[in-house]
Amino acid sequence: MSVATMDLLVSLCKRRGFIFQSSEIYGGTGSCWDYGPLGVELKNNVKRAWWRDNVHLRPDMVGLDASILMHAMVWKASGHLDHFTDPMVDCKACQHRFRADKLDEQTWIHYCPATKGNKFEVPAGEPCQHCGARRSLCPDCGKGELTTPRQFNLMFKTFMGPVEEDAAVTYLRPETAQGIFVNFDNVLQSMRLKLPFGIAQIGKAFRNEITPGNFIFRTREFEQMEIEFFVNPLETIDGRPADEVWHERWMESRFAWYQRYGMRRENLRIREHEKGELAHYAKRTVDIEYQFPIGWSELEGIANRTDFDLKQHAQFSGKSLTYFDEERKQHVVPYVIEPSAGADRSVLAFLADAYREEEVRGERRVVLRFHPELAPVKIAVLPLLKKRPEIVATAHELRGTLARRWVTVYDDTAAIGRLYRRQDEVGTPYCVTVDVQTVGDTAKGESGDRCVTIRERDSMEQARVPIAELPGVFERLLGEGAWADLARSYPPAKG
Ligand code: GAP
Repeated sequence: MSVATMDLLVSLCKRRGFIFQSSEIYGGTGSCWDYGPLGVELKNNVKRAWWRDNVHLRPDMVGLDASILMHAMVWKASGHLDHFTDPMVDCKACQHRFRADKLDEQTWIHYCPATKGNKFEVPAGEPCQHCGARRSLCPDCGKGELTTPRQFNLMFKTFMGPVEEDAAVTYLRPETAQGIFVNFDNVLQSMRLKLPFGIAQIGKAFRNEITPGNFIFRTREFEQMEIEFFVNPLETIDGRPADEVWHERWMESRFAWYQRYGMRRENLRIREHEKGELAHYAKRTVDIEYQFPIGWSELEGIANRTDFDLKQHAQFSGKSLTYFDEERKQHVVPYVIEPSAGADRSVLAFLADAYREEEVRGERRVVLRFHPELAPVKIAVLPLLKKRPEIVATAHELRGTLARRWVTVYDDTAAIGRLYRRQDEVGTPYCVTVDVQTVGDTAKGESGDRCVTIRERDSMEQARVPIAELPGVFERLLGEGAWADLARSYPPAKG
């Protein structure tokens, strides 16, 4: 498990410009978060890696960017208007609101009659160890009765146009998936695709969650990275229905994806949905769970949605949403495998997984061991002495050159040791230090060696590399190359 607690992550994210509370100067907006300068880089890197691996590198995938506001009938057809609800209860005393189905997943306050009414905090789902009672009242105040559950639709309602009337009602999409289904035929025809193929989309989704929280884990506005992978239901692979085989292939592919970007295997697991837990459209669903600081929770869902959505939209729109199977000379409604990941939840998991606290020469170092592709900043150029104009000028020039290819920053606001720690804390894989040896001393008639020190974040090892070779060196290091190989080719620098 990660050593990061949620409080540590929230505090680091604010202090170092990753994630801020939304509208903080007005007291904050509940469960809304803003990505700061480093957070937007990290999130973009996660999305870029996902898009490249799932769209660009695959011959059977294309992309889409559908609008957030859609025809209101979409949500009738998809079942969201009728089924996208959570049961909600209110405490009659403290007015706190809860999801009825999650009530026993939190600790509860109990005034125990067996101990003259003493107040206890009882662990989630357990009875009181003194009187044996189970929770029946409000878990927060321990006194109020709860209302009977009411179904609460999670979609955000709004009005299209200037008149707030029933005919103008529309909704902010609660999942990006429906934008893909309603464009199925557009994409199929315009791209002349053959089954099996997938359509990928990254975009915002909105849910009026009853109990949002745990930082960016559950929010009301969030981003999804979704794939709808269409499979011919008449086909079999090795004697098994093709949709079932593709479901397993996607589970493996998505499980491996998180590890490719450094997430530790022991913090990931697959959880099969029980029959009673399946969504109304699903034949089978598995979750990829991550061991978040709050415990094991869903990171991504991978569902077999069958032909439910295409059939529903065909019925409600009156348009045919089929695929013509040339071989069998018949129209089929494809089955759909849907790997659906949260971009924000992935950011949280990558942050938690990368977080380390280490002791280095008797001092505590916090380091985010991000995979170089995800790291918000790839290189930091640091002048050893900011009072030496030649050193500063060389460092600025170097930053300018490297920034054309990689996100590179310059920092001279502290002594070198502290500058290294600052970069460690935001996960910068490499620091480049310009020193006296680099530029020489013109007053003494000494020319520099035009070499700089590269320091690697995780090992903290250093190597001395000629400036002229830096672009090639970083091409390797920030590509497939390993630091250990590079360190063998260049002389070590003094730490
Ligand atoms: N189209 C299928 C679908 O939306 P989901 O399991 O409801 O399935 C998919 O959502 C993913 O979206 C989740 O695994 C999670 O990563 C992310 N997600 C869902 N609700 C979220 C919320 N309120 N805040 C942040 N991420 C959320």
